[in-house]
Amino acid sequence: VRLAGKVVVITGAARGLGRDCAQLFSAEGARLVLTDIDGAQVKATAEEIKAAGGEVVSRQGDSSTLESHEEAVREAVRNYGRLDVYFNNAGIAPPGRPKLIPYEELAEDLIQRNVSVNLVGAIFAAQAAARQMKVQGPGGAILFTTSAAAYVGVPNAAVYGACKAGVNGLVRSLAVDLGGYGIRINAISPLYGMNANFTQPDAPPNSTYEEAQDWSAEKSPAPLQVPYAPTLRDNSLAALYLASDEARWVSGVCMPTADGGTLVKLARN
Ligand SMILES: NC(=O)c1ccc[n+]([C@@H]2O[C@H](COP(=O)([O-])OP(=O)(O)OC[C@H]3O[C@@H](n4cnc5c(N)ncnc54)[C@H](O)[C@@H]3O)[C@@H](O)[C@H]2O)c1
Repeated sequence: VRLAGKVVVITGAARGLGRDCAQLFSAEGARLVLTDIDGAQVKATAEEIKAAGGEVVSRQGDSSTLESHEEAVREAVRNYGRLDVYFNNAGIAPPGRPKLIPYEELAEDLIQRNVSVNLVGAIFAAQAAARQMKVQGPGGAILFTTSAAAYVGVPNAAVYGACKAGVNGLVRSLAVDLGGYGIRINAISPLYGMNANFTQPDAPPNSTYEEAQDWSAEKSPAPLQVPYAPTLRDNSLAALYLASDEARWVSGVCMPTADGGTLVKLARN
């Protein structure tokens, strides 16, 4: 097992990538604190993991606040005595899903909420985690979920893209600031194989865009042509690597996951 005994907090763990990582990390021996703004659903995720023999607690929390991250850290220390990995994965889609709102029409409160959850929440997450990791020493890993939108323009997702690019900047700066304490900071930046529910409220729960759209290699825009669709697990396995001691010399990295080379492809054929 790759996370034997490690104490891991995952935010946004009620569904989608956070839930899949919770299941994977638990199978790899992690002891978990799961948080989400949807308290009932994150409890359901925790119950599933417990039924499979995992060690897990859950709590409701709004990850845009410093308090929610401090509480998650306290919960980890209360239950397991320490914190090894803080995975800030919670995020909200660009406003207006499923039909995103053009930038110049976005209302101020929608912009503020997107920045508050997707960027400010990540800043608070790292602060709460780093304080605990510095006190307990030595080391620790802080991980974020950003997005392909951090690297390339996605139509009507400018505020979201700015937030995710901001988190990638946070990763690079904190790798410098916290490296002296042995704390590693990294991010995964997913593109494909993600929960369609994120932008499409009517999609079946925890199904990927590719499952929802009858994926085939020929129709896929990815340069990588393989006969299997990208999955949540393809993204989760990258998070597992960065969270584990296998990545003990990896810090300051923002890793595109499950994109099959799409981000490095020139648009022209
Ligand atoms: N699905 C995509 O299209 C996609 C693509 C690239 C990156 N991402 C990123 O992946 C991460 C996980 O998203 P997902 O695809 O699993 O979507 P999802 O909607 O299935 O999961 C996100 C979870 O975060 C929770 N959440 C939202 N706001 C919160 C808040 N303020 N406090 C606490 N929890 C909150 C939601 O309740 C949900 O359970 C996000 O950071 C998202 O930005 C998603």
